[in-house]
Amino acid sequence: MAAISASPAPGGVSPSPRGPSSLITRNKAVTWSAATAAGLAPWKGRASVSTAATSSNQTERLNEFHASGARNQNYMAMYSSIFGGITTDPSAMVIPIDDHIVHRGHGVFDTAAIMDGHLYELEQHLDRFLKSSSMAKISLPFDRSTIRSILIQTVSASKCTQGSLRYWLSVGPGDFQLSSAGCANSALYAIVIESPSLPVPAGCKVITSSIPIKSPQFAVMKSVNYLPNALTKVEGEENGGFTGIWLDDEGFVAEGSNMNVGFVTRGRELLMPRFDKILSGCTAKRVLTLAEQLVADGRLSGITSRNVSVQEGKAADEMMLIGSGILVKPVVQWDDQIIGSGKEGPIAQTLFNLILEDMRSGPSSVRIAVSY
Ligand SMILES: Cc1ncc(COP(=O)(O)O)c(C=O)c1O
Repeated sequence: MAAISASPAPGGVSPSPRGPSSLITRNKAVTWSAATAAGLAPWKGRASVSTAATSSNQTERLNEFHASGARNQNYMAMYSSIFGGITTDPSAMVIPIDDHIVHRGHGVFDTAAIMDGHLYELEQHLDRFLKSSSMAKISLPFDRSTIRSILIQTVSASKCTQGSLRYWLSVGPGDFQLSSAGCANSALYAIVIESPSLPVPAGCKVITSSIPIKSPQFAVMKSVNYLPNALTKVEGEENGGFTGIWLDDEGFVAEGSNMNVGFVTRGRELLMPRFDKILSGCTAKRVLTLAEQLVADGRLSGITSRNVSVQEGKAADEMMLIGSGILVKPVVQWDDQIIGSGKEGPIAQTLFNLILEDMRSGPSSVRIAVSY
């Protein structure tokens, strides 16, 4: 469409002064599940181009797209600092194309799981988010407590009690230059995605990735430059695996496409690569803490973070992937090597249960109640 209306979609977004106290929601959500249940054909896009689209028929087309079932996740609410509010209308969940996060990848992001109406490890994810933003030279549009409040309000407005919260900081819109000098204001976006089902700790296969790992400067920050990560995941899947595993510049085990890696050695030690050249995973760090009880009861002999060679990793009794999307996922095969017994290991399963329990009833340092 050539004509793009600058005004927000009717009924979906309430324009308001920026800031947390002025967030307003209107409920106008179309759920994808209704569309798929109705057996609608997959969305193929439109071959014809309307050069004089009005904002109302544009909104109608966006609604049509959303209702087609072309999206396979349920988006419950979105916050945007551009319009300074929250919308529950999926058709209004858009960002400006001249935002440098879109055309230059100049943005950072993070997540937090929503479990039983609580945000899990929000503070820990926020710490990493703000660190990433500073490394990416993105100034904050609001202070930390305001960002935190906006995120919690977005979950509250979504009424979602199980799923995930994703959020981005960008240098903002302004032009299509490379420099961010023309971006007047940085931008904050957040979205709530409903997901009633929990990850399952089923064993998987992984392969060594042939995609070059990001240099440490970029690997330790969670920027939106995830093309290497996406290609590592795709390569893993193309080879019948769950994902790819990166090795670092010295050939040591680094991390997976969007998860950390852990091992249980023959000597029953929980072993993880250090976080100095990879993303410091919030889930992996929590696993390291929760695993201390397994040392106390004798199921583990110790917990260590150090360089792990491929040979040592492949000879481990257990291998696991760790991340907020999968929690703890046992690996039963790495390339052609069967790991341990070739079945899901007991420590990986126990760590999965411990994280799940922590999400459901952990201390207030990792759980923030959302008031709906
Ligand atoms: C490259 C990478 N490593 C590790 C992780 C795991 O981090 P977390 O446990 O905070 O999800 C992620 C997840 O975002 C990731 O993208």
